[in-house]
Amino acid sequence: MDLYNLLKFLHVITVVFMAAPLYNLIVVNERVSFGKAHLHVDQYFENIIRGSSVRCYIFQLTALVTGVLLLIRGGSWLSLFTNWVLLLKLLFLLALTGLLSVVHFSIQPQIDKLLAQAEGDTMPQAVAAGIGPLRLKRKRLASVCLFLVTTTVLLGVQVDSAFRLQTTLILVGLAALFSWRVYRTRVPYGWV
Ligand code: HEM
Repeated sequence: MDLYNLLKFLHVITVVFMAAPLYNLIVVNERVSFGKAHLHVDQYFENIIRGSSVRCYIFQLTALVTGVLLLIRGGSWLSLFTNWVLLLKLLFLLALTGLLSVVHFSIQPQIDKLLAQAEGDTMPQAVAAGIGPLRLKRKRLASVCLFLVTTTVLLGVQVDSAFRLQTTLILVGLAALFSWRVYRTRVPYGWV
């Protein structure tokens, strides 16, 4: 089998699996509309979100490794520094890892600590007041991640031949609009 094509398939399927911010935002919006609930609902919800981080690290690493291997196999990895599309893709990937690390090493442990203090059927008011702002921060970061992943896909399809600048800018605008929309609502019809 052609190794380049195999790597390309791995690269693209990894990117598909990096859609976690979209689905996590949908889950988060569902949780908000659910309102006050049994403590088990929050524990279940946090288990799902918490588990995403390690998966995300692994998919990000796979995107990086397959990306570099594609370059080596396709010519030279040095084009990472001469092709601005590839360089931007790398920078966006590093930004994604940075944002994920903020959630994984700072926000999530704080939420977990507060949640561990909760007892009874529903979350006590004091715990809820502490968790609320942290969840909001995490949600904002997730929508930035969604925007970065979408924009990186937009760059991915321009590695060999760049689109016209205005086309790229319009699509970046639409990516921002979609990320904002998913941040605000449950998008029951996919795009809206
Ligand atoms: C979040 C990170 C990334 C995303 C979302 C992403 C996405 C994509 C997508 C959608 C393609 C299109 C494939 C096609 O046209 O069939 C692509 C191609 C490519 N990517 Fe990435 N990529 C990422 C990171 C990287 C990195 C870090 C590198 C290099 C170090 C890289 C190198 C490449 C190369 C060389 C291609 C061209 C493959 C080809 O058309 O033959 N990618 N990427």
